[in-house]
Amino acid sequence: MNLQEQKEFFLTIQSTLEKAASIEEANPREAAELYLQISRKILDKTQVMTTDEKKKFMKIAESVLDKRDNIIKLSKERNERSNENLMVKNNRPHPDLNNTDMEGSSQFIKDLHPTIYETTFKDIAGLDEVKDTIIRQVIKARERPDLAIKYGITGRNILLFGPPGTGKTSIAQAISNEISFPMVTVTPSYILDNKFGAFEKNIRSLFEDALRYAPIIIFFDEFEALAPRRTSINSSYMKRGVPEMLRQMTDLRKKNDGRVILIGATNNPWDLDEAILNPDRFDTRIFIPPPDVKSRSQIFKIFLRELSKDENIDYGELGKISEGFSAADIKYVCRTAAEYAFSNAIDSGMESPITSENIKLALKSSHPSITEDQMKKYFVFMEKYVKKV
Ligand SMILES: Nc1ncnc2c1ncn2[C@@H]1O[C@H](COP(=O)(O)OP(=O)(O)OP(=O)(O)O)[C@@H](O)[C@H]1O
Ligand SMILES: [Mg+2]
Repeated sequence: MNLQEQKEFFLTIQSTLEKAASIEEANPREAAELYLQISRKILDKTQVMTTDEKKKFMKIAESVLDKRDNIIKLSKERNERSNENLMVKNNRPHPDLNNTDMEGSSQFIKDLHPTIYETTFKDIAGLDEVKDTIIRQVIKARERPDLAIKYGITGRNILLFGPPGTGKTSIAQAISNEISFPMVTVTPSYILDNKFGAFEKNIRSLFEDALRYAPIIIFFDEFEALAPRRTSINSSYMKRGVPEMLRQMTDLRKKNDGRVILIGATNNPWDLDEAILNPDRFDTRIFIPPPDVKSRSQIFKIFLRELSKDENIDYGELGKISEGFSAADIKYVCRTAAEYAFSNAIDSGMESPITSENIKLALKSSHPSITEDQMKKYFVFMEKYVKKV
């Protein structure tokens, strides 16, 4: 934005802020809505800003959202106080207690602590094809919303699948960083509930809140536990929950203007319900492979970067002798090697940097978590469900 544009933008925000402040007492609900609109306007504008401008405006947006949170909190406290009186009078919930418009807005999402992560693609070794696909299909669409709309690229739901510890979560975090969308992680333990109707209700609340809160990334970890094959389900709450998940994903597709991004992650994509894999639900399915030899060398470098180590470590060799090790395995190996070196330092009373020998010993004492049989299963799955790009 040039200076003139910045000035005009500031003035518009300021006058709406003043209006919101003036009605806070008399009409807190409307004031909260105005604050929400302002923060959205600011966040939308950040799409066309330089990094420095973006930082400045994100701060302003955050402080506006704080104002809104504060009003909601006060109004909730006030409601609770008056509700207590109503309860006493009637000895059962007054109909007004069902009016949860205000506190219900985005609360589900907020409880999951939306975060813009600091992880970047530079922190993730290798996976060049994966990064390229994501940049073309997701990030560019945010950078050029004008073009994306013309080509109908408004919503992207991404399924990341692959062996454990290969970077699925890190990639989701890096997407959040690249496009400055806050992200929430939804785990099965958070959303599953076997009380009658509770799981479906949680799914509905999540999707409704996502649209209210947008821009947002919903990251479903262990997605196969949330949307397993219906033919393999025994529990009744799951039998109702999976269709609800399918319904909500279809519904979101219609309402989404590109500001809600769903990312599902799974180690076992073959356990997912077939309907989830419909391109209308997850239009981008990306295999996150185990690191190749070059990436493994880089991953060793990354995990040893901050530690006291021998300058002559041959990272090329470490990459070669760690076939089948995931990034998470390598992280564990480096930690073990560091423990060996630390013990040596304690025993000898002298600083003892981590050596190649420490690392090789640590490699020998641990097992690679990725097997050939496992890889075959992924290839079979891909034959059926992933088109070549
Ligand atoms: N390609 C990579 N380059 C560097 N570090 C990586 C890479 N992939 C993963 N890591 C690191 O390995 C650890 C595990 O990664 P992450 O949690 O992203 O894996 P995941 O695929 O989500 O695992 P899981 O399937 O168990 O959830 C993290 O510390 C992450 O920073
Ligand atoms: Mg993960």
